[in-house]
Amino acid sequence: MLDIDKIKSSIEGNCFISSVYYFKEIDSTNTYASDKNIPVDSLIITDHQLSGKGRLDRSWESAKNLNLTFSIKKRLTLSPAENHYLVCFVSFYVFRAVYKELEESLTKNELSKLFIKWPNDILFDNKKICGILVESKLPSNEYIIGIGINCNQKIFSSGIQATSIFNISGKQVDINNLLLKLVDSFSENFKELLSSEFEDIFKKWKKSTKIIGKVCTFDSGNGTITNGKIIDLNANGSISIQCGETVTDFYSGDIQLTGFN
Ligand code: BTN
Repeated sequence: MLDIDKIKSSIEGNCFISSVYYFKEIDSTNTYASDKNIPVDSLIITDHQLSGKGRLDRSWESAKNLNLTFSIKKRLTLSPAENHYLVCFVSFYVFRAVYKELEESLTKNELSKLFIKWPNDILFDNKKICGILVESKLPSNEYIIGIGINCNQKIFSSGIQATSIFNISGKQVDINNLLLKLVDSFSENFKELLSSEFEDIFKKWKKSTKIIGKVCTFDSGNGTITNGKIIDLNANGSISIQCGETVTDFYSGDIQLTGFN
């Protein structure tokens, strides 16, 4: 369960988060951050999100008290072409935090099953542990960074390819510590996004995807599933996929990766 006093006393008022908004229940922390007139540098967190939003109009399910569901509102001056570096930044540091949680219990070989699925889901053995929804509010350059991490949930609805840190490691996750460590690592490394030198974060993110060279299936939005081979992930945010003799660059939103062989 969230220990909101501990969370507030550890992070409220530091230079990264100035206010914490806590709700026992809420429809969606992203919707709250976006619709309510709350300042940037706020963290919105809940024990139970009732209608969590996912990317591409999907929903995000999360059981009460067992997981992390939160949003961070930040101001950043990124050009539209640079937005995807924020996605790389967030998914890389969430990937690293989940990796550290699993490190004690898993062999190196088992840990290699943890990866970032382009553009920003965190999967273990092709099952989703974490979803990230970054929404931008222009022209104020505000970004809502929504993060859901399956921590201690054991059972997921049928039809959802999801798992949790507990299901993988067999160890109960201290969700308060995980949140504080994650916010710390965002805070320590946020300068990577302020310098306009995105090469480092892009390299770290790309290495953590582990999908280059893999054969995949993808959905182009019309329900047609196509087979292809992932050739590269590009600094402009696109993915290059070879189908037959042709290599095509797709942007997030154009396609959804649906499986790997
Ligand atoms: C996805 O995988 O499609 C993204 C899921 C993002 C879920 C998080 S949970 C906290 C925040 N509030 C929401 O409504 N969604 C994000």
